[in-house]
Amino acid sequence: MFPLTFFQDEASLIVQGVMSGFIGQLPVRVVAIPFQILPMPAKKDMISAIMKKGNTKLTVVGAGAVGTSAAQWAVQRNAAEHVVLVDVVEGLPQGKALDMAQSAPVCGYSGRITGTNDYSETAGSDVVIITAGLARKPGMSRDDLLGKNVRIIKDVTRQVARYSPDACLIVVTNPIDAMVYTAFKVSGFPKQRVIGMAGVLDSARYRTFIAQALDVSPSDVTALVMGIHGDNMLPLVRLASVGGIPLQELLPEEEIKAIVNRTQNGGAEIVAHLKTGSAFTTPGLASVEMAQSILQDQKRVLACAAYLEGEFGIDGVFLGVPVVLGAGGVERILEFPLNKEERAALESSVKAVKRQVEATGL
Ligand code: 2OP
Repeated sequence: MFPLTFFQDEASLIVQGVMSGFIGQLPVRVVAIPFQILPMPAKKDMISAIMKKGNTKLTVVGAGAVGTSAAQWAVQRNAAEHVVLVDVVEGLPQGKALDMAQSAPVCGYSGRITGTNDYSETAGSDVVIITAGLARKPGMSRDDLLGKNVRIIKDVTRQVARYSPDACLIVVTNPIDAMVYTAFKVSGFPKQRVIGMAGVLDSARYRTFIAQALDVSPSDVTALVMGIHGDNMLPLVRLASVGGIPLQELLPEEEIKAIVNRTQNGGAEIVAHLKTGSAFTTPGLASVEMAQSILQDQKRVLACAAYLEGEFGIDGVFLGVPVVLGAGGVERILEFPLNKEERAALESSVKAVKRQVEATGL
């Protein structure tokens, strides 16, 4: 055991701060372990303990395929100290959470994951990912889900807002641009704290198809999809790049057009394969990517459905745009000039979203 001696330099104050954090409640004066003499692993643990924000809580509503994927990714990525999976089906979230808890020793998750049918156990969540609702089947459009899912989202949002009035909501349920609008209206939360997940998923598909076409790492592809999460989504060609090189310098126009089209139909392509439902792995991961940026105040620049009030000349709807995601939720919308074609494409997105929102009756 190291000699416990009293230091006042800043390094020992850090140690003292950590020590008192851990045993602060004991009626003893904490003396500092000289930080300098700690072996490296202990120093790293100490620094990460200092940096770690305590007690972050992430709730995932819906223990279906997407919700289960989101909870699993949250555990694997240590996204929050406490992950709660809630669903109306008795036993479903409990069983899935218990299964995931048993993966902790293997994947190194150090937090808690619990499953429940009782929303009171979600109380005090910092972020809530809402995946509850029906998924589409072959031949269905996302719009076809609207009638049933709007009722589910209204009920879920009331429950979530009651127990976690300070949370950021990340809505995944389709049609997402109308469902996030529904959550915004029903929760009464400020626009910064109600966000739709779609652009991260669509941009990931776009990047994947570009990487496959060029046989490069997807990590070196930068590409942005804006607009509605639907057929009229806007994969931006002009701004796509590979290792900093503009995409249009690397692929012929015809091939780029085919990639844009495949991205716009990325969801339907998977539904056609699966037949019983839609994608869940990457949608779940995309929602956790957003949640982590909020929980850990990462200031990531991500394409999210955010409420626009004049940005890009659009007002009063949620639409996929590049945002800065931090502890406050949507901290900034990164606006930039669009060319004529891009503006026209975004306009058709707005029209489609407005039709969906009208159908919600809100
Ligand atoms: C998708 O695009 C489920 O809407 C989601 O796969």
